[in-house]
Amino acid sequence: MLPQSSLLLVASLLAALPANADGIYTKKSPVLQLNQKTYGSLIANSNYTSIVEFYAPWCGHCKNLKPAYEKAAQNLNGLAKVAAVNCDDDENKPFCGQMGVQGFPTLKIVTPSKKPGKPRVEDYQGARSAKAIVDAVVDRIPNHVKRATDKDLDKWLGQNEERPKAILFTEKGTTTPLIRALAIDFLGAIDVAQVRNKESASVEKFGVSKFPSLVVVSGDEEPKVYEGELKKQPITDFLKQFASPNPDATGEAASPAAKPKKSKPSKPAKAAPKVPVVPDDEGESAAAEETPEAKPVQVPIVPPVPTLATPESLESACLNSKSTTCVLALLPATSEPDSALPSAATDALSSLAEIAHKHAQRGTHLFPIYGIPEINSASQNLRTSLGLEASDAVVIIAVNARRGWYRRYSQAEDFGLAAIEGWIDAIRLGEGAKEKLPEGFVAEPEAEKPKEEPEHDEL
Ligand SMILES: *[C@@H]1O[C@H](CO)[C@@H](O)[C@H](O)[C@H]1NC(C)=O
Repeated sequence: MLPQSSLLLVASLLAALPANADGIYTKKSPVLQLNQKTYGSLIANSNYTSIVEFYAPWCGHCKNLKPAYEKAAQNLNGLAKVAAVNCDDDENKPFCGQMGVQGFPTLKIVTPSKKPGKPRVEDYQGARSAKAIVDAVVDRIPNHVKRATDKDLDKWLGQNEERPKAILFTEKGTTTPLIRALAIDFLGAIDVAQVRNKESASVEKFGVSKFPSLVVVSGDEEPKVYEGELKKQPITDFLKQFASPNPDATGEAASPAAKPKKSKPSKPAKAAPKVPVVPDDEGESAAAEETPEAKPVQVPIVPPVPTLATPESLESACLNSKSTTCVLALLPATSEPDSALPSAATDALSSLAEIAHKHAQRGTHLFPIYGIPEINSASQNLRTSLGLEASDAVVIIAVNARRGWYRRYSQAEDFGLAAIEGWIDAIRLGEGAKEKLPEGFVAEPEAEKPKEEPEHDEL
């Protein structure tokens, strides 16, 4: 029991506190602060995906989450909404109850459904890091971008005749968060499509000579080409000449904290012109970049798979007695040194590049992946000693020289992202049969730094 005087003191201190304790996010925070009403108008009725944190200001885990959550909000600016509800505020208590909040913080991802005002709401159970949050939200950004080909572009252009059409010509097979966000901003006002560089009739029809290019077709006017930076605000400004964006267009993704970066990821990678760096498949992983300053709306570039062109480089990376698991794409011969690889090979490389990129962005460990060009004489030896096809086919193998096994990717008709990713995940889990490497296959150790790697990782 406290003495009477202390009780009085406590009582008067409590009385001095504001009835509704202040939230943990300041006015300047990139996190949008909500109550029940604004949840309805800004989140439930939005065409955007949102993540909403239900918290109490006194909760330690909520305070711990704050920096990561604000960083996620910065990285998702212009792409999705990041919001918070202070459940300690009397006004919000019934709402937090209705939302089934039982502990703090509770994070929910709210994704628009076909029925306006009736979004899908799911608990976010992932890691409480900015990157994990961003990845989960980006995965759920609605995709209203038509992926058009030479076959169906004209038909698409003929639909909703009165509506302007924006066409992004790109080397990418994936639909980036940026273009998805633009399609959401102009949903119902400008139709958006994406056409790959290999759709040569369409590319020619619009006279596109560089990728990416954004072309807008409006009425009978000459198509207009956007030549600015591939960033949300300037593209939005350009598109506004043709139609007004929707009420909840989220605007510029540049937050005050966003600093210009040295490298410009919006330019296509120069490294391997023969090899498209993104796969055909859906499933862009993330817009978040490593640093908090990173501008997430810049189109992420998937770095190409590195190649090992000499037997020595292959041996030192993957085929000595210390080497742990490597994934190797043995590439077929090309008719001339500079001519393009067959499409199976470019598909395989772009799927592998995308998988490596996903893991890099999520910060999860993945074995190194290399392309082995046919000019690497070790490539032919590998094929012969492992009994693989002749050199006109692409073959993907995983090899662990230290443990003396290899596995071959056997779905030779499908080099898409999903199929290869499934195979790689199985290896990561240590699943599936392994073949023994032939005797004498692995180079003898030289004085080399030992590498430690578990047999497999958790997914
Ligand atoms: C959502 O998209 C529709 C078009 O499908 C548009 O009319 C509406 O204004 C958008 N909603 C908001 C809140 O921007």
